[in-house]
Amino acid sequence: MIAQFPQHVLEPAGREAARHLPLWWFMIIVSTTVYVIVIATLLYATLRRRQEPAADEATPERHRRAARGIIGATAVTVVLLLVFLVFDFTTHRALAAMPVAPLEVHVSGRQWWWHIEYPDTVPQRRVTTANEIHIPVGRPVLLKLTSPDVIHSFWAPNLNGKKDLVPGHENALVIQADRPGKFRAQCAEFCGHQHAKMALWVVAEPPAEFEAWLDAQRRPATPPTDSLARLGQQVFLTRTCVMCHAIGGTPAGSRFGPDLTHLASRLTIAAGTLPNTPGHLAGWITDPQRIKPGVRMPPNPLPPGELQALLAYLETLR
Ligand code: CUA
Repeated sequence: MIAQFPQHVLEPAGREAARHLPLWWFMIIVSTTVYVIVIATLLYATLRRRQEPAADEATPERHRRAARGIIGATAVTVVLLLVFLVFDFTTHRALAAMPVAPLEVHVSGRQWWWHIEYPDTVPQRRVTTANEIHIPVGRPVLLKLTSPDVIHSFWAPNLNGKKDLVPGHENALVIQADRPGKFRAQCAEFCGHQHAKMALWVVAEPPAEFEAWLDAQRRPATPPTDSLARLGQQVFLTRTCVMCHAIGGTPAGSRFGPDLTHLASRLTIAAGTLPNTPGHLAGWITDPQRIKPGVRMPPNPLPPGELQALLAYLETLR
């Protein structure tokens, strides 16, 4: 069982996030110190003026002191900003270096879920999934980020900073996990009604487990064997489901919604909104608008027998 980590900027699990950490601490410590000094000076000046009204009477000596104070504060500000600039520049230069032979994963942000593809020169070996990225521990992963609708932002804080997914433009982000774990990631750019419920999980596994996962994802769905699941497949293929979803090995091939070929193997449904259990799945299929108002999926008030059969079928999609 791989440990699960909530998203956290101060708990880096990879080289990129670790590289951000000293910059983060430096900025917070310097900014807090400057803020405290400015507020303390302001309070001191205000209180002093109240206690001795003659204190701000202009004299040449006071003018000189004020000028020295202003020049000193300006010099300190310039030096601090320069240090910030150099620190920021060196950190981002180090992060911008492209790794050799990374694993490439294509991520497309949709309102409000994540379309994931593992490209391959052999079309049959390409993998399409949703809302879950599996990566091998210790190998750099190059995420190529796009969006067909609005601007989203990919943010897995334990692994790296944010990067926008911009319509008509491909962005790249490198992540690398140095230990196994399930890391929560979240859309970090307001992208409409259900922006908050646009999460995903990055699952870092030992390389052998990752390869086994990838192989399993390459296979089409196993045809259902028991009669209930077979009926469920008929429900899927004859009701509205088939208009938006694809299941490998069946006539269902729409790319409008998430690919469901291996739905039952995923951690969550509805882009990280609910745990992937038959009960939650039943609620989601019946009335997704109650769970994610505004989501593109319509309600599906199926007769109870058909819903049970559909759930039995979806549970076979391992
Ligand atoms: Cu996608 Cu916010």
